[in-house]
Amino acid sequence: MPTPRARAEWAARVHAEYRSAAHSARLAHLCIACGLDEDLARRALQVAGEELDHARLSHQVLVALGGGDEPQAIDAGELLLPPSPDGPLADLVDLAVRGFCLGETFAVPLFAAMRTEARHPRARDVLDRILADEARHRQLGWDLLDALLALDPDGVRRRVQDKLPGWLDAFRQAYRPADEAVPLSDEERAVGLLPAAAYRQAHDRCRAEDIGARLRARGLG
Ligand SMILES: [Fe+2]
Ligand SMILES: [Fe+2]
Repeated sequence: MPTPRARAEWAARVHAEYRSAAHSARLAHLCIACGLDEDLARRALQVAGEELDHARLSHQVLVALGGGDEPQAIDAGELLLPPSPDGPLADLVDLAVRGFCLGETFAVPLFAAMRTEARHPRARDVLDRILADEARHRQLGWDLLDALLALDPDGVRRRVQDKLPGWLDAFRQAYRPADEAVPLSDEERAVGLLPAAAYRQAHDRCRAEDIGARLRARGLG
């Protein structure tokens, strides 16, 4: 039987995907407000739609695990990002780099690791769909960063260099859950749960290799 821990993980996934949808819609709004290339705004809108799909699909996994089909509670404070006192371009830089260059890039190996041992049919199908989308979400972040660096090379570079250490540290903390008191069962692994050590490993490798190389290529490493 699926465990409360498996249901809690998929409930957290619903929240995380819904939050990603809100942040992607905000990204599209900021792209339009800052006059970025129309194609980038359209791609952000597409990502917002895909993140809503991910939230709905993740909820279907939760229901398949016996989680009940009540809607999940919404915390509007977590979904509405307060505007930066430094203006909309600063908001766009922060959201593009923290949420997409970092968040969506860290997400790709994490979902790949979740998918590796997932044998539950519904969880496997949903993870396949999410994984297929996440690489494009990651690419949007880096394309946005390049567009922003072209728009205001010195200002954007300075802001990213100032903020990057704090953002990276926050991801490092988030990817270091405490080791589980009771090891994961085969059934929990089958619905995509990962041991804490796998989270740390996915983070550390992605930071050192993928994100490190992309930052260095832009003189930001
Ligand atoms: Fe997603
Ligand atoms: Fe995503």
